[in-house]
Amino acid sequence: MYSEKVMDHFNNPRNVGEIEDASGVGTVGNAKCGDIMRMYLDIDDNGVIQDCKFKTFGCGAAVATSSMATELVKGKTVEEALQVTNKAVMEALDGLPPVKVHCSLLAEEAIHAALWDYAEKHGIKIEGLEKPVNDISEKEEEEEDEY
Ligand code: FES
Repeated sequence: MYSEKVMDHFNNPRNVGEIEDASGVGTVGNAKCGDIMRMYLDIDDNGVIQDCKFKTFGCGAAVATSSMATELVKGKTVEEALQVTNKAVMEALDGLPPVKVHCSLLAEEAIHAALWDYAEKHGIKIEGLEKPVNDISEKEEEEEDEY
């Protein structure tokens, strides 16, 4: 039911971790399953993504898609990174079972949220990028005291 690539990225996820002083960080959540994904981007002065790391508190498909998504955006410009949609990630993984498609959306949204954060910090506008709907970073900050 899962492709070899999905299993590979689930068992050996690439780019797990954090980037200190990242250019952009995005945290998104899926309200239905409660899974959370955080994406860190290191972007140079030319707008090229030099590094990308992630942390996912979620299902196996979410881990595999975030792993593949980090591999796909590395070396791309911020504009090119926008093309890394959940469809592109799923294709790169040779597909996902239909019930797991929403997990790949989390990866796309996490990239967008991190790009949004980068754009906001630098006072720039990235053509075609919209504020991610499932961005939970603001909410999280408010609730931090409760942990
Ligand atoms: Fe929640 Fe996969 S079940 S992201």
